[in-house]
Amino acid sequence: MPEKNPFRIMTVEHYPIIQVASALSAMRVTHDIDSETLRKAVEFIRKFADRYHHEKEEKVVFEKAKKKKIGTSPVDAMEREHEMTRSRVREASELIERGDLKNAIVSLREWANFISDHIDRENHSLFPGLDRVFDENEKENMLEEFSRVDRELGSYEEMQELADEIFVEILSKTGNAIVEARAIPKEDRDDFVVRVANLMPENATLTVMYDEKSEELERRLKDFEIEEMKKNGVYAFKISKKT
Ligand SMILES: [Fe+2]
Ligand SMILES: [Fe+2]
Repeated sequence: MPEKNPFRIMTVEHYPIIQVASALSAMRVTHDIDSETLRKAVEFIRKFADRYHHEKEEKVVFEKAKKKKIGTSPVDAMEREHEMTRSRVREASELIERGDLKNAIVSLREWANFISDHIDRENHSLFPGLDRVFDENEKENMLEEFSRVDRELGSYEEMQELADEIFVEILSKTGNAIVEARAIPKEDRDDFVVRVANLMPENATLTVMYDEKSEELERRLKDFEIEEMKKNGVYAFKISKKT
């Protein structure tokens, strides 16, 4: 059944973005990552985060929210943050073209950390709030406009496919990803972690930021070694394939 809630669609579109951000945020300047891989990451961010996904947010959801005469400062803040993410990517792209891959890595890592936090707030605060403000007709209307974006700018399947490719490619160089799973709503969090764990190359590890121990998740990751970490009230675990 096609998804009927526009906010659910927007939330799910965040997952491939978080996946790419997980790979990028573990990159270090000492990693030997070539310009083609970095270009591919920039292409993903521009095509699917900035255009495909942000077109739906800015031109459909935020636009309609502004007409609602509700306090729009959270929406304005999100738009400003989109601008900040765009400037990071512009910077990364220019650095790659100049051959300064080390600083491009730094810019992409900053993008990754910033976008994870942005998505966390949209998923857990902005979208649930806006979901209550719009009625069924208005949501139906948003879905129609989303279909236009899908026709013109890409598809979720393409987005996920490219995210998988980048994730594997970068992990084969860095051997690690830092997965900000707390940005994913609880009901999808375990599925997300299991999916990316199964994608990672041999010998790689995932550092997963989680907010509590999940026995259900441990059961689903029985082919993996899990090492728990707790520091300053933050819960995380490291997973690697059992050898
Ligand atoms: Fe956003
Ligand atoms: Fe978003």
